[in-house]
Amino acid sequence: MQTTARRVILERCGARQTMSDWTPSSWKDREAAQSVAYPSESEVDRTVEEIAKLPPLVTSWEVLQLKSQLADAVHGQRFLLQGGDCAESFDACDSGSIANKIKVLLQMSLILVHGAQKSVVRVGRFAGQYAKPRSEEFETRGSVTLPSYRGDLINRPEFTPEARTPDPRLMLRGYERAGLTINFIRALVVGGFVDPHHLEYWNLDWVRDSPMVEEYRRMARAIGDSLQFMENLAGAHPGGFHWIDFFTSHEGMLLPYEQAQTRQVPRQEGWFNLSTHFPWIGMRTADPDGAHVEFFRGIRNPIGVKIGPGMSPDCLKRLIGILNPDAEPGRLTLIHRFGSDRIARCLPPLIQAAKSTGKPVLWCCDPMHGNTRTTDGGTKTRNFDEIRSELDQAFDIHRGSGSRLGGVHIELTGEAVTECVGGARGLSEVDLSRAYRSHLDPRLNYEQALELAMFMAHKMRAINGRSPGT
Ligand code: PEP
Ligand code: CO
Repeated sequence: MQTTARRVILERCGARQTMSDWTPSSWKDREAAQSVAYPSESEVDRTVEEIAKLPPLVTSWEVLQLKSQLADAVHGQRFLLQGGDCAESFDACDSGSIANKIKVLLQMSLILVHGAQKSVVRVGRFAGQYAKPRSEEFETRGSVTLPSYRGDLINRPEFTPEARTPDPRLMLRGYERAGLTINFIRALVVGGFVDPHHLEYWNLDWVRDSPMVEEYRRMARAIGDSLQFMENLAGAHPGGFHWIDFFTSHEGMLLPYEQAQTRQVPRQEGWFNLSTHFPWIGMRTADPDGAHVEFFRGIRNPIGVKIGPGMSPDCLKRLIGILNPDAEPGRLTLIHRFGSDRIARCLPPLIQAAKSTGKPVLWCCDPMHGNTRTTDGGTKTRNFDEIRSELDQAFDIHRGSGSRLGGVHIELTGEAVTECVGGARGLSEVDLSRAYRSHLDPRLNYEQALELAMFMAHKMRAINGRSPGT
């Protein structure tokens, strides 16, 4: 454990001196919230060593390219769309689920590009979103108490002592599943699946029977026409048109796993966490003196921090100072998640605090995690109206504070699940049992996700001073 005096000295030092004190495992000297009690620490170390020898899942070039795109978003030239499951599961690592997630994100980004008239940075919560923080360390059913399910990287959901005991070998399984996922996504991107000349590849069933189908079709036709116009103007069909790319992200909660793929690369300074492009620190692990912040300050990736109602302006200022000491645009994204009833009170002081540091941050709204409710029957759900309302307020509050909302962070799936209530199809609590598949938080289904994208498109058009829907 570092002494307070030493820590204060470190914080007063410039970034370079501070970095000389950092190693991929220096987090171990700090308190780690949400840490996992493994039966054998030596097995953890062996697994970390094994993963460390395996190839990286992403490259430093991609990581730096994303950082530069996020810097554009800070300056208002792009908009960040980050989305995916609350927790990926090893069982759902199949072509249908992955392709459907890509389709939803592509369609949402299409709607946003059209509405916001700016490029969209597409970041999936995938290829590593396997570890979860939990409010309750244990779960009791009847007279039996077992550790809570913490995500497939840590233990398994079945309610048995064997399944719930943390198993370090699951980190290796997670690395492999992440590798398989990213491999398939890269193949889809390179293989033409994301070619905007073929918007029909992205269609999910909803396009046939959704209440919003006409508006989406109009938008897709307008995009097709613009593309044709550009190509006619250029006098050529730009073959191999790969302007659409995807980046990966996950909550960097399980630090041994994050450490395992953290390395130096030839011709680059510093350290990269090559298990993902964009790791983020969860709300429960964002203690400026804690292990997670220590680990994250030393990697060169763009990083996110979730901030909730418990974050004070002073704490936020400290976090910004530690995590973005060089005031690098694109380095730090603040993902706020307050709830539709609290955002108006909680967000403005934090915007002012961030401004007072003089260091750039990208502001992103997660309208999901502050709006989780439990029904009388005990099912976790979220109401579409509250999600939309938090997002709506976020745009206005930033604008009113001389700031800018530069992105959105959403839990969604490409499947027709019934986990969140509301939306154009008017899902109600009685519908929840029909197709509730999440082991953890409720996700927007593809139709609700696209409805939210359309809402954002209208909102951004209105903000940009154009009439909505044109
Ligand atoms: C999550 O993103 O799934 C999550 C647990 O979020 P938060 O840290 O904001 O609660
Ligand atoms: Co979640």
